[in-house]
Amino acid sequence: MGDGVTPAASGPGYLPATDMPRFIRDMMQFVGLGDEDLAVIRRSAPIVLQHERRLTSALYDHFLTFPRSARFFLGEDGEVDAARLERRKHSLGRWLRESAEAAMTQEFSYYLLSVALAHGHRGQPPGAIPPHLMIGAMSLTQTALASVFASELPHGDAAAASGAWNKLLLVQLSVFMLAYVPPRPVA
Ligand code: HEM
Repeated sequence: MGDGVTPAASGPGYLPATDMPRFIRDMMQFVGLGDEDLAVIRRSAPIVLQHERRLTSALYDHFLTFPRSARFFLGEDGEVDAARLERRKHSLGRWLRESAEAAMTQEFSYYLLSVALAHGHRGQPPGAIPPHLMIGAMSLTQTALASVFASELPHGDAAAASGAWNKLLLVQLSVFMLAYVPPRPVA
């Protein structure tokens, strides 16, 4: 899958969930996420992982400041369910670590689909995470990473790392959005 940005031959339409590696490869080509960017992301991994706790806490603590996002983390008593929040931070940490590896494997592509479904097809109350909050969460992640890179790396390297991560995160966001549309073929 990591063949850079060489355009693929266009084939007939397919359902993304039946061929996630292809969907992700096509999106990588579309946003220009190439081998150079993947290498930049991997090089940034130690810095990202060093700040993992800060990044995941910043995201989930932010969710708790708005009732519309906090409601997904409350217990039956209406208070923040600390154990559940801790599990969520742990899951987010795993996602961050796997993303930083930038190993765009078949396994990772279906892992992303499972994360998409965990949010968009969530059965228990209060139901699915609204798609606009997923988009907002990606924006928060981009901002937090850019700030980490700006404080840890020389200017040029920070810009390259932010640019590469921005592409990767929005490719992932395109996967997360699949959970909110009826299955339909894409070209
Ligand atoms: C950058 C966007 C996000 C990422 C990368 C992310 C990542 C994850 C991951 C990896 C999991 C574990 C999935 C699993 O167990 O298979 C998870 C679960 C969950 N996330 Fe997120 N998340 C994001 C945004 C959000 C937002 C915006 C909310 C709510 C405001 C949210 C609430 C939850 C909840 C409630 C679960 C548990 C789902 C369940 O009931 O099983 N997440 N998230």
